Amino acid sequence: MVKTEGLTKNYTRQGKTFQAVDHVDLQVEKGEVLVLTGPSGCGKSTLFHLISGIIQPDEGQVYFDGQKISSLSAAKRTALRRQHISYILQGDSLLYNFTVLENICLPHLLSGWKDKKELETRGMSLLEEFRMADLAGNYPAELSGGERRRAAIVRAFVHGPQLVVADEPTSDLDEENTGIILDYFMRQKEKAILISTHDLSCLRTGVSHYAMAKGRIEKKGIID
Ligand SMILES: Nc1ncnc2c1ncn2[C@@H]1O[C@H](COP(=O)(O)OP(=O)(O)OP(=O)(O)O)[C@@H](O)[C@H]1O
Ligand SMILES: [Mg+2]
Repeated sequence: MVKTEGLTKNYTRQGKTFQAVDHVDLQVEKGEVLVLTGPSGCGKSTLFHLISGIIQPDEGQVYFDGQKISSLSAAKRTALRRQHISYILQGDSLLYNFTVLENICLPHLLSGWKDKKELETRGMSLLEEFRMADLAGNYPAELSGGERRRAAIVRAFVHGPQLVVADEPTSDLDEENTGIILDYFMRQKEKAILISTHDLSCLRTGVSHYAMAKGRIEKKGIID
C-alpha cells in the first residue's frame, strides 16, 4: 500500500547539513503493522512526516497504492491525505475547548465530511470500543493522559483511512492502555499502520520490525 524509495530529508543547523532521513526504502502492505524503533533523534518523526506528506523530501519518492505522491497536484495530494492518511501526533493533540466527541468529529467535518450524524455514530461506537463512551461529552482537561491518547486515536480512525501513521502512540501509557491500543491496531486488517516507539512492548507477534539509526533503517523482520 505504501512504499518509499531512497527517501531523504536534509536539515541544516548551525551551518551544518545532515541527513535526518537517509535513503530510506520501506514497504508496508494492507493488514500490516510496522513498528519502527530507534534512539531519540534518529529520524523517526521526520520519516513519518515525509510518508504522510506533511513535509516534502529532498530526494526519493513515496508511493501510495502504486501512485507516486510527488507527481500528484497539490489539490490531489491534500485530498488523498484528508481521506486516506491519518497522522497521530507525538504528544498531546486535542483541542482543549472542545469535548471529546467534538475533537473526534470536527477535523473531518472541516475537511468536507457531509453527514455529521453518521460521523458521530461512528465516533461513539469507537469510543465504546475503547471503553470511554461515557466521556464523549467531557473536555480533554477532565481526562487522564491515557484517555486523551485513546481519544486522539479514535479521531484518527473514525473516517476510515487506509493508512494510519502513529508517532509514539503508547508513550507515557500504562500497560493496560498500551494493550488496548495495540490490540486495536492489530485487528485492522483493512489498513496499514506505522508505529514509531521506544516501547519494546509494541514488538508483538506478527508486527514487522524496522530499526532506525542516524537516518537509516534496517529491516529486522516479522516478530514471532
Ligand atoms: N526542522 C528541523 N530543522 C533542523 N533539524 C531538525 C528539524 N526537525 C528535526 N531535526 C533534527 O533531525 C533529527 C531527527 O529528528 P526526529 O524528530 O525525526 O527524531 P526522532 O527519531 O523522532 O526522535 P524522538 O524519538 O526524540 O521523537 C534530530 O537530530 C533533530 O534534531
Ligand atoms: Mg519523534
